Amino acid sequence: MLPQQKVQYHLLLCASPSKPLCHQGPLGAQCWEQLKKSLKAAGLEQPERPEGVVLRTKADCLRLCSNGPVLLVWPSGHYYGGLTPKRIERIVAQHLINGEPITEWLIKQNSF
Ligand code: FES
Repeated sequence: MLPQQKVQYHLLLCASPSKPLCHQGPLGAQCWEQLKKSLKAAGLEQPERPEGVVLRTKADCLRLCSNGPVLLVWPSGHYYGGLTPKRIERIVAQHLINGEPITEWLIKQNSF
């Protein structure tokens, strides 16, 4: 069995869906690249963080299928829509680091 790891957030991004219903073109891939860059620059992927590591997964579809690309922040269930690389940067800084969700960009909230 693998060792337990404390997880602060798990991020799921609809970046490159097989049936692209929520966005078209390269925007999802650009958001994914920015997410990787911003998490790494902020040190959020360090397993030894006292708050826990931040994990990320490229999801095929988050079942919202409009106003994408869509990002789900688990476990709080914040769904961000209309993403751009700039918005990703701000979500990482304001929501993940400072704990303040950006309510005007939310398209759904459903805590788990
Ligand atoms: S295709 Fe992006 S949420 Fe379904």
